[in-house]
Amino acid sequence: MVGVIGGSGLYEIEGVVVREERKISTPYGEPSGLYRLCDIAGKEVAFLPRHGSPHHIAPHKVNYRANILGFKKLGAERIISINAVGGINKKMKPGDIVLPDQIIDMTEGRERTFYDKEEIVHVDFTEPYCPELRAAIISAGKEAGIKLKQKASYICTNGPRLETAAEIRAFSLLGADVVGMTGMPEASLARELGICLAGIAVITNPAAGISGKKLTTTEVVEKMAESTGRIKVLLEKVFSIIPEQRNCGCRDALKDAKM
Ligand code: HPA
Repeated sequence: MVGVIGGSGLYEIEGVVVREERKISTPYGEPSGLYRLCDIAGKEVAFLPRHGSPHHIAPHKVNYRANILGFKKLGAERIISINAVGGINKKMKPGDIVLPDQIIDMTEGRERTFYDKEEIVHVDFTEPYCPELRAAIISAGKEAGIKLKQKASYICTNGPRLETAAEIRAFSLLGADVVGMTGMPEASLARELGICLAGIAVITNPAAGISGKKLTTTEVVEKMAESTGRIKVLLEKVFSIIPEQRNCGCRDALKDAKM
C-alpha cells in the first residue's frame, strides 16, 4: 500500500475510481478526512487530501500525527506527499515540478513527534526524504517525459500568512529554494514510523517579493490545477516501476535512535 497526500488544489487524483472510503481514528485525534482507497497501475493506493475536502483545514491546524498514523494503520509503507510551494530560487518557476531533497523547518507549535512520553527518540533526519522513493519518481519522470527538478531545499513556514519579501531574501541566504507550509512535521513523523516519504512540490507562484506582485491563493490553486494531469501521469509511472520490497533504510529509522 502506498499513501498519497494531496495538497492545496489537489483534492482527488483525476479519473481514478475510488473503491472505498475508510475512516481511521487515532489516539492523536482525527485525520484530515476519509482515506480514499483506489488502485493505480496495479498498486493499492490510499489518498488523503491534507486540508480536507473541501479545503477547510489551515496548514498549522492539520493533524499531521493523525494523518501519518492513519496511513500506517492502513498498512502504507510509503507516502508520496504533494505540496504547493512558492519559488525562491529564480530557477524555480511557476508550473515547475520539483523533488525536494532537503528541508529547513521553521514551523512552531505543531505536534512534531510520536515520542513525547517516557520513550525518548532522536531519529536521524540527515536525508529527510527516502532515497529509493525519490529515485523511483526521478525515473518515472524520465520515462513519462515529465520534467522534474531533482534537487531543492524546502523551507517550511508556519503560516497561515504568506511571507514578507525580507523573509524570502533571508530564506534564500539560508539556502532555501522553495517555500511551503505543510512539508513539516509530516516528513519527520513518517520517518519516526519507518515509512518512506518523498515530496513532489509544484511551484504555484514566485515567493513573496520575487515578482514584485501581490500573492494570491487563486494563483496557487489555479497553477496546481494546471499540474494535476502531469502529477497523475507521474504517479501512475511511479507505481508501475516502484519495487515491491523496500531496499532503503527508512524502516530501520528507529534502530540506534532510542535513548
Ligand atoms: N509561501 C508559502 N506557502 C506556499 C506558497 C508561498 O509562496 N505558495 C504555495 N504555498
